[in-house]
Amino acid sequence: MSATDLAAVAQAMVARGRGVLAADESNATITKRFAALGIESTEENRRAYRDTLLSTPGLEDYISGVILYDETIRQSSADGTPFPTMLAQRSILPGIKVDTGSMPLANDNDEQVTEGLDGLRKRIAEYVSLGAKFAKWRAVIIIDEARGFPSDYALHCNAHALARYGALCQEGGLVPIIEPEVLMDGSNDIDVCFDVTVHAQRRVFQELDRQQVDPRGMVLKPNMVISGKGCATQASPQEVAERTLECLYRTVPPAVPGIAFLSGGQSASVATEHLDLMNRMGPHPWQLTFSYGRALQDEALRTWKGSTDNVAEAQKVASHRASLTSAAATGTYSRDMESAAV
Ligand code: 13P
Repeated sequence: MSATDLAAVAQAMVARGRGVLAADESNATITKRFAALGIESTEENRRAYRDTLLSTPGLEDYISGVILYDETIRQSSADGTPFPTMLAQRSILPGIKVDTGSMPLANDNDEQVTEGLDGLRKRIAEYVSLGAKFAKWRAVIIIDEARGFPSDYALHCNAHALARYGALCQEGGLVPIIEPEVLMDGSNDIDVCFDVTVHAQRRVFQELDRQQVDPRGMVLKPNMVISGKGCATQASPQEVAERTLECLYRTVPPAVPGIAFLSGGQSASVATEHLDLMNRMGPHPWQLTFSYGRALQDEALRTWKGSTDNVAEAQKVASHRASLTSAAATGTYSRDMESAAV
């Protein structure tokens, strides 16, 4: 794919009012989410759940692309249409998670590095033949002030791996979603999250540049700048929006077409409100949209509960949530829309 084609896909992923549904949970992660609701994690149940989400009527009005997992990209809808084909027929771009998860760094360190580079060029070629147009790789950055995390070692290794992945994707014809996720699990305040996120993103863009990743043919998927879950003082939504924007303005080249945030464990309404506020403070040099997993799916999964009887209701819930998140991507969301009839 030419640089122009990659840029066109990246722009379509972040087209105004549309965003990405992250439905790429690994089998281990979806098994945990199912177990919490008493749903058995069989291959057929995973397929049926993804089918419920992906065949939601009207999904294409809000969703530009869906990130699939290796098992899912090979599965089909109930009528036998492969998921990537079904998505493409509805003008939704099929994407693929290509990292293989994060592991502890070597040498006695509790920080993580993401794996999956070995053989990636070949895997990318296969995913392209299955219909994928973009890919995702998630790096995990842990904040622990007492232990000096994130270390320079962890930031370097993760930025380097993200750039190697990004370069291989563009070479092979996929738009890379570059996801350096600073976790919100700590007890740190928002200032620490700001400093770490600025630092992590700077390192990522330096590596992307060194490894010749074209900023016009990628999408950044960052965390928002937010107080740690365990912090006694939680920053207001206004502060989260302002600090997140300040971080992006300091680190992200304007040639990047769009930024698609992860939700990272924020509730659906909070993640939606934060995105909405940032868009109200625009225009910005990049589109600001979403690539939410839990914030788009949690309520729909609770409604589906593993039963075909609940498919229609779960789809209504999924569509309503996607419509609110899409409104936030244009700065037109309001809290009263949460309670509107689904
Ligand atoms: P969350 O929105 O649930 O954080 O998931 C997005 C994602 O793809 C994480 O890699």
